[in-house]
Amino acid sequence: MKIAVLVSGSGSNLQALIDARLSGKIVGVICNKPEAYALKRAQQAGIQTAVIEHKQYPTRETFDDVMHQQLLDWNVDLVVLAGFMRILSAKFVHAWEGKMLNIHPSLLPHYKGMHTHQRVLNTGDMYHGCTVHYVTAELDAGQSLAQGVLKVARHDDVEQLAQRVHELEHLIYPQVVEWICTGALQYHNTNTVMYRNQVLNEPIQFCKL
Ligand code: GRF
Repeated sequence: MKIAVLVSGSGSNLQALIDARLSGKIVGVICNKPEAYALKRAQQAGIQTAVIEHKQYPTRETFDDVMHQQLLDWNVDLVVLAGFMRILSAKFVHAWEGKMLNIHPSLLPHYKGMHTHQRVLNTGDMYHGCTVHYVTAELDAGQSLAQGVLKVARHDDVEQLAQRVHELEHLIYPQVVEWICTGALQYHNTNTVMYRNQVLNEPIQFCKL
């Protein structure tokens, strides 16, 4: 399986995917920010990179078209969004339906969007975590595959919570990608994902309580 990882920032999830020595091969990294540290990580691992700056394109669609073409050129089977900070056009999402994953720092469907850690603290929730899900045109709404769950500590501030969620991300994202690479997890259609030949109704949970 040929994997492309899309990044915008530090790329710690990219690093976790590299370090996991997946059965699939990360054939390329696309980044929309030339200064992103994720690019260095890719280069250090000998992975080819493509910097595609969204600012250089007049519309979201034209930017997405260039990324799409790059993914086709690399013959990619699976697109992994790892801190990629752009909303994707419906056309692009549709083209990669069932072949594109994202990781979001909350227990979806709770806290879609930004500032999840602060919102969890503001509400006083007992549990928090991260979710790996398929990408659909609606933001953070595709089928959830796996979640990392932790207990919010009374003394947690935003940074501490973000750090602990990040650690869980590095655990669950490579695991889900590996399941896809080995065929343990299979996308059938929008409503049906199979995990080891059973319909997956709920995300698989990894708990660190
Ligand atoms: C992670 O918190 C992830 O949940 C979100 O973006 C962040 C990426 O971090 N989608 P990194 O660049 O992988 O360190």
